[in-house]
Order: sequence, then structure tokens, then C-alpha cells
Amino acid sequence: MASALKLCVIEGDGIGREVVPAALAVLRATGLNFDAQAALAGWACFEAHGTALPSATLELARQSDAVLFGAVSSPSHRAPGYSSPIVALRQQLDLFANLRPSKAWPIPGSRPDVDLLVVRENTEGLYVRRERREGDQAVAERIISRKGSERVARVACEWAMRRRGHLTIVHKANVLPETCGLFRQVALDVAAGYPSLIVDEMLVDTAALQLVVHPERFDVIVTTNLFGDILSDEAAGLVGGLGLAPSANVGAAQSPALFEPVHGSAPDIAGRGIANPIAAFLAVAMLLEHIGDTDRAHSVRSAVAYSIRNGPRTPDLGGSAKTTDITEVVESLVRGIR
Ligand code: NAI
Ligand code: MG
Repeated sequence: MASALKLCVIEGDGIGREVVPAALAVLRATGLNFDAQAALAGWACFEAHGTALPSATLELARQSDAVLFGAVSSPSHRAPGYSSPIVALRQQLDLFANLRPSKAWPIPGSRPDVDLLVVRENTEGLYVRRERREGDQAVAERIISRKGSERVARVACEWAMRRRGHLTIVHKANVLPETCGLFRQVALDVAAGYPSLIVDEMLVDTAALQLVVHPERFDVIVTTNLFGDILSDEAAGLVGGLGLAPSANVGAAQSPALFEPVHGSAPDIAGRGIANPIAAFLAVAMLLEHIGDTDRAHSVRSAVAYSIRNGPRTPDLGGSAKTTDITEVVESLVRGIR
């Protein structure tokens, strides 16, 4: 028997603590041989230990084969000493590509014509967090590198080759000719190495509009960190919302990849047992696919698709079911498919 997959599990804050245990139950139901080790990060961790990302967590993540992450709460006011641990984890583990798929589901809240993948640069851009105050001005630096753009563009091209062969490079190079200009040029150069791809480019504001008006025009979108953060939430909104949106953070082949729902800690519903765990289940499916276990990935996706079609559903999808209700259904479906 293959050795157990070493999985670092970071529940984080709020509904992260509700959807991650549910996702682990579904992973267990697949029969995968894995060894889960829990680690701390987030706001509660910061309050208790004075750091949002303890070095022990980073160390455990580094020594693991993969990381399953829930969500963390990051305040919008300045909290001295606090900075978002998920942004730091992506940077520290050099997980340079964030893959965020959005696909139509057979529910009233979903557009029927969506099947796209946002590939978001995940380590630089405006999220390098080099901000400072200069009197009454606030300044943020935006770092775009050739290396960072090249490697994320390559991941996007590879995904476009596996999908429908269409890549859209999203930028704002008309206003930001240095930063977005470099990203655009490098992405175009990388894409030129894939002559069978259809490659186009779009300004980010146009892309935001086109996503709503003609989402069927998109296959793979590659873009910088902040634009990708925003556009992927928008894309999730087209197909049922954040309760259904998973993501994978991937880097070099030897780094552990990190899998997480796109959503945050949802303080408005945390603690009520009504968070939709499906985004976390689909993150588990992305993990299984990433490690080459396509059969188990398929069983999780099929079980999720069945439960979305037939219910029960959590309140975000118009139902009244609890997190545990969905989990029990998906778990037993996965066991049945096995
Ligand atoms: P959010 O994603 O937590 O919530 C937005 C809305 O979607 C809320 O109404 C929430 O109830 C709903 N929602 C989200 N996930 C859901 C689920 N699984 N089931 C049902 N409803 C769901 O984003 P928000 O409110 O902007 O941020 C809340 C906190 O989360 C902030 O502290 C923010 O910093 C943090 N955050 C963390 C992220 C991460 O850890 N990766 C990502 C985004 C936000
Ligand atoms: Mg986001």
C-alpha cells in the first residue's frame, strides 16, 4: 500500500472550523490513506499566541504533502502585528498560481453557460503588502516580475491546453504600462509557445463586464493577484456563490499545494452550523486530482453534483439544511460510489 498522504489541516476562524471537519469526513469516506495533522492560523490564533501564522504551522505545512485550509478572519482596521496568514502562506510556500474554477450547476442561482478557470498570480502584485503612509497620502507598491508572470502564465497555458484551448490575458496595461505592461508582454510571450491555443487579451474592467454579460466567452483567464481575487469572486457569483467555489494554490512540483474554499470566515453565519461545506468538498476534489487520484476526485465531484441537484441544500442555496446534513449525504454517496 502506498504511504499515507501527509496532510496539514488549518481550520482557521469562523466557518473554516465548520467546513474543514466536514471536508475531512468526506476525504475519509473516499478511503484515501492519509495522516492529518492540525495546525493553527488566523485571528483567534493571533489573539491567543500573538501571531497569526506560528512558525510551527509553516514548518508543518512545509513538511506535508498538501495543506487543507479553511478560512481566516482578517480585520479591515489596522491591527498592529497582524497580517493575513493565507497571503503569507501562499508567499512563504511560493504557491504562485491560484486556480479558481467556476462551472454551471443545475440550480436556479446558477447561470447555465459558465465553465471557466481563473488563474490568479498568487505571490506578488499589490499583495506584497508594501504600504506606507506619507503624511496625508498612503502609498502601496505593486510588484510584477518577469519570473512571477512567466510561471503563472505557463500554468495557465497548460490548463488551457487541457481544457478548451482558449486563454484570455487580463490586465490594465493602458493605465499601468510598467506593471501590467510587463505582465501582459510576458504572458503573450509564454502563450506564443503554445501555437494551438487561441490567445486574447482584455482590460480588467471590460473583463468584469464580459463575465456578467457573456461568461461563455471565457475558458482560462490569467491575471495578476488583486484582479484575480476580484474576478474569481465575481465568477463564483455566476454559478451559485461562494458556498460552491473551491480553489487550489500550486507552486513548484516539490512544494506542498494548498487547497481551500474561496470564501472567508463568514462571521455573519459562523457558529450556526449552516455554512455550505461544498466549496470545501470541491477543494478536496482538487487535492485528489492534484495528487493524480482522478477516481477519488471524480467520486467526490459526482456526490457533490448529486447533492446539489437533489438536495438537501443550505440556506445560501435556498434550502434549510445544516452543514452536517449535506456532509452526511455526500459522505454516504462517496462511500456508495467507492
Ligand atoms: P466571506 O466569504 O466570509 O462572506 C461573504 C458572504 O458570503 C457572507 O454573507 C457569508 O455568509 C457568505 N458565505 C461565504 N461562504 C459561505 C458558505 N460556505 N456558506 C454559506 N454562505 C457563505 O467574505 P467577507 O464577509 O468579505 O469576509 C469575512 C472575513 O473573511 C474577513 O475577515 C476577511 O478578511 C476574511 N476572508 C478570508 C479569506 C480566506 O481566509 N481565504 C478569503 C476572504 C475573506
Ligand atoms: Mg477573495
